[in-house]
Amino acid sequence: MNSDSATPTGPDLRKGIAFGDLTDGGMLAGHAGGEAVLLVRRGEDVFAVGAVCTHYGGPLAEGLVVGETVRCPWHHACFSLRTGEALRAPALNPVSCFHVERRNGAAYVQEKLEKAAPRELTSPTLPRSVVIVGGGAAANAAAETLRNEGYRGGITMLSADDSGPYDRPNLSKGFLAGSAEEDWIPLRSLDFYREHDIDLKLRACVAEVDPTSRTLRLVDGSELAFDALLLATGAEPVRLNLLGGNLAHVHYLRTLADSRALVAKTEASRRAVVIGASFIGLEVTASLRARTIEVDVVAPETIPMERILGPDAGNFLRQLHEEHGVTFHLGTTAASITARRVTLKNGESLEADLVVMGVGVRPSTSLAEHAGLSIDRGVAVNEFLETSAPGIFAAGDIARWPDRLTGESIRVEHFIVAERQGQTVARNILGARERFDAVPFFWTEQWDKAEIEGRLKARDCAISYRRGGKKLAVATIGRDLAGLEAEVELERAIASE
Ligand SMILES: Cc1cc2nc3c(=O)[nH]c(=O)nc-3n(C[C@H](O)[C@H](O)[C@H](O)COP(=O)(O)OP(=O)(O)OC[C@H]3O[C@@H](n4cnc5c(N)ncnc54)[C@H](O)[C@@H]3O)c2cc1C
Ligand code: FES
Repeated sequence: MNSDSATPTGPDLRKGIAFGDLTDGGMLAGHAGGEAVLLVRRGEDVFAVGAVCTHYGGPLAEGLVVGETVRCPWHHACFSLRTGEALRAPALNPVSCFHVERRNGAAYVQEKLEKAAPRELTSPTLPRSVVIVGGGAAANAAAETLRNEGYRGGITMLSADDSGPYDRPNLSKGFLAGSAEEDWIPLRSLDFYREHDIDLKLRACVAEVDPTSRTLRLVDGSELAFDALLLATGAEPVRLNLLGGNLAHVHYLRTLADSRALVAKTEASRRAVVIGASFIGLEVTASLRARTIEVDVVAPETIPMERILGPDAGNFLRQLHEEHGVTFHLGTTAASITARRVTLKNGESLEADLVVMGVGVRPSTSLAEHAGLSIDRGVAVNEFLETSAPGIFAAGDIARWPDRLTGESIRVEHFIVAERQGQTVARNILGARERFDAVPFFWTEQWDKAEIEGRLKARDCAISYRRGGKKLAVATIGRDLAGLEAEVELERAIASE
């Protein structure tokens, strides 16, 4: 998506808006030259930027202005009002930025500003080469940020996958449901990496990292030296060891290849059993229902996602899926699988020509472990996302970092967290010493009170999760702006720690 694709509405901002009509920090959506444009006043300055988020087209006018930035209400990307630059993932491209002229008490949107010339860093202290192990969210964000910050040294991305970086969350949603085309899935074209001189190697599985000699070895025996290294190897699905668990109609979902195989299988399937009722299990369930496949969900908990969301939101989710024809079998697990049936530990037997396992993931830490890096239920990193070996960083699903809000070290499996960590690592490789302080989209399981404000049934509420009175997380349903406001509130709480 790009900002040119919206149908512009509101006033023609080229004709001028009285300065007095703009409130400080307020937004006015209009258009200029056929493009949707957002006008924002900050003090005596007036900014004009493209009004449509470059991630998935979110309406920035419904977002939030924070300082000299505007945040998208959908997935919280953050853009500079002064330059249009995408400052925080998940948006990777800038929005347009326009010159605004002030005369006779009015603000007039003028021509589009030229993109700033690419920066070029030349310090002798910069690493000569950066190697990134992984080709996912964190890896891609790190490589792009290195180039955006002006780094001109060598960047090599080694990915075990056979596809370039892609929108992994979509694999269980639109792509599986059949509503998203495959060409929406890549984060960038392969040409993008060539044009930015990023040496992306696919099917390149790293076998060993040696922090002392600063080299790594690939499975094919080749070796590569690095000055700085990012480990962003993500996570792998937990595999259940049960009778029939290896049959061909039993699927796991992590990669694009997994999702393609699942899509192909749905074409000849009538009944599915989904094992696991957490995020991925329930998303797969909804996507299979969109393909009119009958779905039974099996999970040991009595309320889906109760530990994370609390009983009210968990029961709400269950009800929502039941309204779409899903049958839950809770408080039990699968005992065995045959070509046509899944037998549960409670004795029930369910018909299934497709089985999907969504029973969690474990961080892919084996490279870090064998390299002798500190491990703590993930790869332990400091506030700068650096591992116990100087110059070797970790980001994304594998990294456990000290979180200032909870005072605990946490590891979060979230796409945007991975991207934002990749961005921070890139700046730290270049010497920024930037703390990773972004408010994670995380679910602490350590809350003692969940307070609902609004009405769950009407799908219009915000749930605050607290421990000892302190707000640790917020979930919103049908309230995008409240979600953004919660992010800013938690950011301020972190800053004051
Ligand atoms: C189906 C699905 C749906 C999801 N939905 C959501 C969602 O809605 N919202 C959300 O926030 N998150 C979601 N997630 C989680 C999110 O995708 C991850 O948190 C995120 O991708 C983590 O990014 P990462 O860079 O750490 O790892 P990944 O994106 O997993 O990338 C890891 C990369 O490392 C490579 N690799 C691993 N080992 C090696 C090796 N030895 N050598 C070379 N390369 C290696 C892999 O091939 C891969 O390219 C979902 C995940 C899945 C699977
Ligand atoms: S659409 Fe704006 S962040 Fe996703």
